[in-house]
Amino acid sequence: MHTHIIIEPFRIKSVEAVKFTTRDERAAALAEAGYNVFRLHAEDVLIDLLTDSGTGAMSSAQWGALIQGDESYAGSRSFYRFRDVIADLTGFRHIIPTHQGRAAERILFHTGLKPGQVVPNNNHFDTTRANIEVEEAEALDLVIPEGRVPSAIHPFKGNVDLAALERLLDERGDRVPLVMVTVTNNSGGGQPVSMENLKGVRALCDRYRKPFFLDACRFAENAYFIKRREPAYADRTPKQIAQEMFALADGCTMSAKKDGLANIGGFLALNDDEWAERCRNLLILTEGFPTYGGLAGYDLEAIARGLEEVVEEPYLRHRLRSTEYLGEKLTAAGVPIIQPPGGHAIYLDARALLPHVPPLQYPGIALANALYVEAGVRGVEIGTVMFGMHPDGTESPGPMDLVRLAIPRRVYTQSHIDYVAEAVIEVARTRETLRGYRITKAPKVLRHFTAMFAPL
Ligand code: F0G
Repeated sequence: MHTHIIIEPFRIKSVEAVKFTTRDERAAALAEAGYNVFRLHAEDVLIDLLTDSGTGAMSSAQWGALIQGDESYAGSRSFYRFRDVIADLTGFRHIIPTHQGRAAERILFHTGLKPGQVVPNNNHFDTTRANIEVEEAEALDLVIPEGRVPSAIHPFKGNVDLAALERLLDERGDRVPLVMVTVTNNSGGGQPVSMENLKGVRALCDRYRKPFFLDACRFAENAYFIKRREPAYADRTPKQIAQEMFALADGCTMSAKKDGLANIGGFLALNDDEWAERCRNLLILTEGFPTYGGLAGYDLEAIARGLEEVVEEPYLRHRLRSTEYLGEKLTAAGVPIIQPPGGHAIYLDARALLPHVPPLQYPGIALANALYVEAGVRGVEIGTVMFGMHPDGTESPGPMDLVRLAIPRRVYTQSHIDYVAEAVIEVARTRETLRGYRITKAPKVLRHFTAMFAPL
């Protein structure tokens, strides 16, 4: 039979009830949370699109693998299974487990950066940026110009501006210890990077003798975009494409909470023997012995199996389609989003939707909060609160003011997504009534997680 609908490529074996609340209950919960959805009790959220990180549903094969976990402190069988799956996928020589992605970043940057250096990326994610800035180095975003314009259509909006990277390496190359590229580009809208662009970065890194690292959190989604949009790769499997992406790099940081299809975990992988030695020494200090790195043996098993499942084509076809489906519904209703839809999330353009709320009154917070009160849907601001505070204590508008609706993997069905679309469209209809916020309390670093707000 020939069908057009792309169905969920799984059936459901275990379910978890969601809690319905009233609008008054949600308004009270939000006020109690200092108007920051990060501070809500998750129980009070109906559809939780705060993040796709660690929130996915594991398969029965992964749950089955948990009981196989070898909890030996050193040399666990589960570590070797984890290592072998990652070595097959990435080809990297040294594979170092960590408790999540930012631990890999911390170790890479603490062993590889000096104050005053510069690390380019298409767009750094918040933890990557913070882990660079804490070493008193500069995190520089060099995405192509289209990547900064929400409405601009480009098949690979996550691409690095190769001319700008070349200029940086030419003018300040002595201060660049490594080049990083995030696949897909989360802060820029979950947009993919083409293989051609990755090859261009590799060529520049060869010319200027710089190591090239992937921030590989969503490598499988990126690989599937390459298959769909880069003609030379149409007949390759997602795994073959992922292998080719990794083969262009000298190492990667990875959060297994995304395309590892696990609830916790990550790794750092690299080819350089001496650097890997220094990383392992720091790992022992802060994470644990190099064959577990802060994870249980059963976590290593779940990640190994997850990395095999994530490159399966039915999974990826549905994953990208379900995100696109939400994007199409919102676009049809005139809601401005980052176009085209990314892999793991839809990004609402709060700055465009709420032109009467200036960036320093946080339109992303206004929109995210309204969506929660309206429908119990939790998204997250990616904008001036997340990126507007600088190390010198000054504040300026972030590059964009977005609300990200990140879709957990294998968790919600099509009717959940239909509900989210209805909720966003309803909030957009009442946009003129939404007001901005001011910050009443915030820490200096990564303020978006814990800041408290008051409505204006
Ligand atoms: N790099 C990217 C591109 C990410 O999206 C994240 C996490 C990390 C690194 C850090 O990984 O959370 O395992 O320490 N992003 C999550 C998100 C938190 O919601 O996008 P981690």
